[in-house]
Amino acid sequence: MQDRPLDRREFLKRTGYLAGGVAALGGAGALAWRAGAQPPMVLPSQSKPGNFSDLHIRLVMAPAAVSLFPGTPTDVWQYTGTVISGRSRQLEPIPGSYLGPTIHVARGNRLRVRMENALPEATITHWHGLDVPEDQDGHPRFAVLPGEVYNYDFTVNERAGLYWYHPHPDMRTAAQVVKGLAGLIRVTDEHEAKFDLPSGEYEIPLVIQDRTFDSNNQIAYAPGALLGYLGNQVLVNGFPALTKTCRTRCYRLRIINGSNARTYKLAWADGTPITVIGTEGGLLEAPVTRPYVMLTPGERLDVWADFSAKTVGSQMILRSLAWTPGGVGGGGQAPVNGAAMTIATFNIAAAASEYRSLPPYFGDFETLTLDQATNAGAPRIFQISYILSGGQPVWLLNGAVFDMNTTLPNENMPRNTVEVWEIRNTLASPVMPHPIHFHGRHFQVLQRIGPTGGANLTAYNTVNQGFINAAWKDTVLVMPGETVRLLVRTSDFPGLYVYHCHLLEHEDMGMMRNFRILA
Ligand code: C2O
Ligand code: CU
Ligand code: CU
Repeated sequence: MQDRPLDRREFLKRTGYLAGGVAALGGAGALAWRAGAQPPMVLPSQSKPGNFSDLHIRLVMAPAAVSLFPGTPTDVWQYTGTVISGRSRQLEPIPGSYLGPTIHVARGNRLRVRMENALPEATITHWHGLDVPEDQDGHPRFAVLPGEVYNYDFTVNERAGLYWYHPHPDMRTAAQVVKGLAGLIRVTDEHEAKFDLPSGEYEIPLVIQDRTFDSNNQIAYAPGALLGYLGNQVLVNGFPALTKTCRTRCYRLRIINGSNARTYKLAWADGTPITVIGTEGGLLEAPVTRPYVMLTPGERLDVWADFSAKTVGSQMILRSLAWTPGGVGGGGQAPVNGAAMTIATFNIAAAASEYRSLPPYFGDFETLTLDQATNAGAPRIFQISYILSGGQPVWLLNGAVFDMNTTLPNENMPRNTVEVWEIRNTLASPVMPHPIHFHGRHFQVLQRIGPTGGANLTAYNTVNQGFINAAWKDTVLVMPGETVRLLVRTSDFPGLYVYHCHLLEHEDMGMMRNFRILA
């Protein structure tokens, strides 16, 4: 168990929140990235669930160095893995990246992980999106000291989808993730396998993160007091300026926002609508198209990209379009949250004959309805608020700061029950967008009640065509002035879990609370 290293106020001081600190900009070295560097990410082309089995791995969290730019290597913290038992190709490292290995499992597989903390500070690992027993979930109270081990053993019982793992110690999640600690968990199942979706080299993970590097190629981390860490360049899969060489055929893009604080408004630069087939909790009932899709920290998107009608020699560029965060969310050092940025470039370099077309319907999707909810007339309300505590800015969830072991009355809920939860981001000022995440259980967005006027409405109108609501989700963007109603089926695992803002600096400052699933 972790000794509490410092109190929260001391923490806020040391990490520079109080200075409202902004990062010193990287020098020319930070811009001299290896243009066109391509991560050799190849998922197993034989991806049928029957080819997966139970897996036991060792995951070491340790300092390392990666060569991101010419000159000095970049110091990072990294997960590295080895297979103890199971099929070795179910653990897939990303050569040259600071990201941890991708864990491949099928629904129903048992996953055992021996996590070794070789960092100079306490840590614990959370399996974001997986519904697991409370001692398996990476709650901060289970953090282990340097040199210690935490053994995980659980069954992956999620729908096929892209999940991820990252550290979760109290007050140090943001700093540990920004140094590189994160990895993917790709879950497959029999239902997904029926659709023969693009796989192998045609299934491309895109882990989107932003970082600022100093003139010596080191990660410069000095988050803003209100806005968290906004890096000045986008990395994908741990590589600056990602370019992929593609063919004239269909691709499946598995996209995750692994950034600390930056939300993206994803769109094709040429105006082609974006086709979404899945979200955090797996495939939608049927594909949807949008002019753009919002992707806030923690969220995932499964995108169908059809390059079959493109000409050889052309490019498709995935961009984040400009949008307005509203409230106090738009400041900070350039590029601000909401600034336009290039995410990845796909060079259509060769012809291919394509036999696939977009499946019109996936099915196997249980739509939750309001009449299933036991509290349909009286939603469980979680208000977002803000206080100055001794002159320090602190964002709050449910009116209180994080406390390791306690819950408030509305944070105790029955197990395996459908309820309506309402997240309100409706207080006057200050206000900004927050990505709210619940551990353990996926939800569907029942209703979004947007702002009705003023600057909040102006901001809302820059994002509101980019939400996927009829979907299994575990993280939701709540805009200034907005109330989001969720339908959730609570976990069947009793115990103490957390929900929090996935803007990681907000989580660390205490915008996190426990909830308890009652036995
Ligand atoms: Cu990805 Cu508690 O978070
Ligand atoms: Cu989580
Ligand atoms: Cu927040």
